[in-house]
Amino acid sequence: MDFMEREFKDVLKEWSLERGNVIPLLQKTQEIYGYLPREAMEEIGRITGKSGAEIYGVATFYAQFRFEPIGKHVIKVCHGTACHVSGAEMLDQTIENELAVNPGQTTKDMKFTVERVACLGCCSLAPVVMIDGEVYGKLNGDKLKKILKKFKED
Ligand code: FES
Repeated sequence: MDFMEREFKDVLKEWSLERGNVIPLLQKTQEIYGYLPREAMEEIGRITGKSGAEIYGVATFYAQFRFEPIGKHVIKVCHGTACHVSGAEMLDQTIENELAVNPGQTTKDMKFTVERVACLGCCSLAPVVMIDGEVYGKLNGDKLKKILKKFKED
């Protein structure tokens, strides 16, 4: 991967001019790559006068940052209370059966990353998953299987 792609260079340049907080810089970097590559953290360290390890240390305080590449599609399975009592575990099981991947993992073909998340704010639709930012609610195993099939064929 060429971690110094144009967009990232622009983000670094913009930050250098304004010298703001490092967190938005990390957020923008994650928007570009989907996670924080080690090389990018080294580069951020270079322009902020810190080491890559220090930048990594800061980033680990925030749950929003990822340190591993993610799949093309991100599946968030809600495990908030309403979804938990409505079958979130069953949805995890369906995903495991269909994609051979557990929460917190990415499929070998880098097509899907699965995450467990807290309430997604649409409890009336429980149980819920969010795929690439879109909410799918009132799910059961069969409905989820059909949805996953579409993404698998994509
Ligand atoms: S608990 Fe799942 S959306 Fe609220």
